[in-house]
Amino acid sequence: MRQWIDACAPDDIDTEDLIAWEYAGRRIAIYNTDQGFFATDLMCTHEDQSLEDGLVMDCVIECPLHGGRFDICTGKALSAPASTDLATYPVKVHGGRVWVQI
Ligand code: FES
Repeated sequence: MRQWIDACAPDDIDTEDLIAWEYAGRRIAIYNTDQGFFATDLMCTHEDQSLEDGLVMDCVIECPLHGGRFDICTGKALSAPASTDLATYPVKVHGGRVWVQI
């Protein structure tokens, strides 16, 4: 059963950046973009590489290892060598906190 989990404060994530967050053994990236807050799996789908040090541009995350790109809003893999989409998680801001549905 999915539930909303209190993850962080909005100010914990700079604009056009992300933080690594872990809950119940699941490693998740939470992004602050011009289009709002989003969450995806933290690990790249190409190889075992965290996206934590990746580059966020608008609603795109670029993997720091080989430069594969993903759409942050949908998780869609946008460029090689990444070809498998990232899992995404619903996010909401409520009561001054960022919540992620797991
Ligand atoms: S590990 Fe991310 S693109 Fe290769």
